[in-house]
Amino acid sequence: MSESNPELVGPDFGKGVPASVALEGAPLLGHSHGEQVIVVRRGSELFAVGALCTHYGGPLAEGLVDGDTVRCPWHHACFSLRTGEALRAPALNPVSCWQVEQRDDNLYVGTRIEPAPVSQSADRTEAVAPKSIVIVGGGAAGNAAAEMLRREHYEGTITLLSADDSLPCDRPNLSKNYLAGSAPEEWIPLRSAEFYEQQRIDVRLNARVVAIDIVKRRVRLENGSLHDFEALLLATGADPVRLDVPGGELQHVHYLRTWADSRALVAAAAAARRAVVIGASFIGLEVAASLRARNIEVDVVGRETTLMERVLGVEAGRFLQGLHEDHGVTFHLGMTVASIDEHAVTLANGEMLRADLVVVGIGVRPAIGLAEQAGLAVDRGVSVDRYLSTSAGGIYAAGDIARWPDRLGGEPTRVEHWVVAERQGQVAARNMLGRREPFDMVPFFWTEQYDFSLAYVGHAERFDEVRIDGALDERDCTLSYWRGGRKLAVAVVHRDLEGLRSEVEFERALAAAA
Ligand SMILES: Cc1cc2nc3c(=O)[nH]c(=O)nc-3n(C[C@H](O)[C@H](O)[C@H](O)COP(=O)(O)OP(=O)(O)OC[C@H]3O[C@@H](n4cnc5c(N)ncnc54)[C@H](O)[C@@H]3O)c2cc1C
Ligand code: FES
Repeated sequence: MSESNPELVGPDFGKGVPASVALEGAPLLGHSHGEQVIVVRRGSELFAVGALCTHYGGPLAEGLVDGDTVRCPWHHACFSLRTGEALRAPALNPVSCWQVEQRDDNLYVGTRIEPAPVSQSADRTEAVAPKSIVIVGGGAAGNAAAEMLRREHYEGTITLLSADDSLPCDRPNLSKNYLAGSAPEEWIPLRSAEFYEQQRIDVRLNARVVAIDIVKRRVRLENGSLHDFEALLLATGADPVRLDVPGGELQHVHYLRTWADSRALVAAAAAARRAVVIGASFIGLEVAASLRARNIEVDVVGRETTLMERVLGVEAGRFLQGLHEDHGVTFHLGMTVASIDEHAVTLANGEMLRADLVVVGIGVRPAIGLAEQAGLAVDRGVSVDRYLSTSAGGIYAAGDIARWPDRLGGEPTRVEHWVVAERQGQVAARNMLGRREPFDMVPFFWTEQYDFSLAYVGHAERFDEVRIDGALDERDCTLSYWRGGRKLAVAVVHRDLEGLRSEVEFERALAAAA
């Protein structure tokens, strides 16, 4: 700990530290001018950047240095050590950069460096850029794309049309801390209204697009208004699958996709004593954990006999079941729901589970209706090429709706991951400006349930072997997913650095195969 300020950790870089303590590629945590800073040595160069990730404050000192970047251990954001720029979502803001120099045998961190502009020049952008861009969808992909267009000096008009009634929000939080009651309202919007105003991003809420005219280059809203575009990004996300049983439309039956959904659930939870969660999906399980944090009795009903077996394998599924049972959740697996009434959920075997609150999390379907109407190529999602371009010129798709040619898995893939959606939005934005950048990133997602978290890199749609290194019970392990002797994905439990190393390993394999 610092001698002068007990809240600051590590040495005071302003006063200087022996240069020998900065080891090659290993972030060194200290502080300067009252802020936590990491110093990183790369060959003959030294870098100093802010120590906290701008996403949720992850500790970059525990991250992975790769080339002249540092990756966050929590959700794999990536920052430039040279400029501080957030090169990869989920971080959207840069970290600070500091002057650092070596004098004699000591290194010193000096003053803060003003953020450098992004790499591309405005001239290059203007030469090929469309005059107007419409983004359909105010979620992860849509927001990230709009921001990236301005970061890349795009000067034309950006209109973001969202069917939501709120500004783009931190959707993953809606089933976690926000629902559990430990995240305040102000954490949820990704950006303020002023931000969009300053960035000249025209955000229209409650603006549902009902038709795209590819020839006339315009979209039509539910209210009849028209918006012309030269380039279009479709980022309409996914819709929850509805439960088709008697009573499924009752008022106390909830779904969770939007902030409004989560607010309604929070309000209902305030008065609820017993909840039934239908569907043991990630969202279902996160909701169960958050409702337990509110001391609500929770039953979970799932069709599968082992939790998450298809995604994480038998062992991880059993572990998750035990985790929830230890927190008081009762499971009804291998079971479906027959009907719901005001006071209970009746299962297919006739058992009645009392419930004053019901949450359905039985999966989502990509919202591809618009793409179909417009005549774009679809295949269980909107088909895009490696540049995220759809079958129509100037129209791109990103996020939960996009099925892209994933070279890692070797087949067209569509996932429902926050970070993938944001990164696809960013890549699509650059490609709208003529960059021709392939989307070749390794998929990543995370889940949090109680005090347990798991991070997953890669994508194993199907696997024939799970290898476990370490012990799930001790919450210290790596699970790898293989098919035909090929490693497709890795999940880590409290081994963040290993998760990051696996990501880099997959990226290297992709680059080598290019
Ligand atoms: C509760 C919850 C928790 C999650 N937790 C995690 C997690 O922990 N980790 C993880 O990796 N992923 C998580 N996810 C998944 C992640 O949020 C999604 O993969 C991601 O949001 C997809 O981004 P998107 O931009 O494709 O779609 P979305 O973020 O869903 O945005 C779609 C947008 O399109 C708009 N829209 C749809 N149709 C129209 C239309 N016709 N006209 C205009 N607008 C339209 C919607 O209103 C919305 O604004 C979670 C999802 C939910 C719902
Ligand atoms: S806290 Fe760093 S990526 Fe989330």
